[in-house]
Amino acid sequence: MTQGILARYRDRLPVGAKTPIITLGEGATPLVQADALARRAGLPKGSLYLKLEGSNPTGSFKDRGMTLAISKALESGARGVLCASTGNTAASAAAYAARAGLRCVVFLPKGGVAMGKLVQSLMYGAEVVEVRGNFDEALALAMSTARREGFTVVNSSNPFRIEGQKTGAFEIVEQLGAAPEYQFMPVGNAGNITAYWKGYREAGPGRPRMMGFQAAGAAPLVLGRPVLKPKTVATAIRIGNPVSREGALRARDESRGLIGKVSDAQIINAYRLLARLEGVFCEPSSAAGVAGLLKIRHEGYPIRGRAVCILTGHGLKDPDTPLQFAYKRKIVAPGGKLRL
Ligand code: F0G
Repeated sequence: MTQGILARYRDRLPVGAKTPIITLGEGATPLVQADALARRAGLPKGSLYLKLEGSNPTGSFKDRGMTLAISKALESGARGVLCASTGNTAASAAAYAARAGLRCVVFLPKGGVAMGKLVQSLMYGAEVVEVRGNFDEALALAMSTARREGFTVVNSSNPFRIEGQKTGAFEIVEQLGAAPEYQFMPVGNAGNITAYWKGYREAGPGRPRMMGFQAAGAAPLVLGRPVLKPKTVATAIRIGNPVSREGALRARDESRGLIGKVSDAQIINAYRLLARLEGVFCEPSSAAGVAGLLKIRHEGYPIRGRAVCILTGHGLKDPDTPLQFAYKRKIVAPGGKLRL
């Protein structure tokens, strides 16, 4: 049977003898070498890697944190679980709650969730509440509802989420044989960068510079203040007031990394390059880290050593964004001769 992260990293996670293990075999995701992309970034062969978190059971990195958060909620006798989400947290919570036999309520910003994610929540049987507002407003409503109703919040404010997600760093250290010199990743609510930094600090002596990237229209950590009306094509990171702000700034400062911003055009460019050069289809938000790498290399930023980009979610989550580009397709009648 495939082991999930709770079994593989049990000694480094808050799992007790009585903790029920709710797993879908998450983690152990591929780390693939990306030489064509490295060349685009002016980096040597063998220096750039992609961590394919879209290969997790519900198609995003959220499953690492959710296996633990839901297992602990079940252990504590929770009435149910609840979250606000731009889609992936909801899909993951819904799946693991279904396995645990727990009620799951998800608060989604209406019109701000990619289709694949919405249908996941519906299929897994979550109670879907669409909020006429943005993610930050949905989160405020989720938190007040959870307090009143006695539900367990499984957003990344839940410390078990961060604990589970730190295992991504453990895997990268195992896969490369040491920590990379740089890690590039998207930043939304800032839980994942917080979790990876915790993971690297626990994994051993080598630590990467943490290079986080927000979308330019939703870049509160770059601006140093909340953004009231966040805007970006990358719906997963359309967040104006990140909960884990402190963790992200700590990761940046302690690692001597940076948190920067990338435009929607830069995100889409990286998104398409990943698919066309490397055969890796991730969702637009996931490409923000790669967009950041290409941007800073273009500006002459030096990279010495190995860099890993975290591709946080699968491209199939969002089937609508690619269709906005004019891809050439041929339509033919059967039986004719096609010249290529
Ligand atoms: N990439 C994807 C695909 C995401 O879904 C998210 C966050 C992020 C990156 C950013 O991670 O929030 O830890 O900084 N999605 C959350 C959600 C907000 O509700 O699914 P973060």
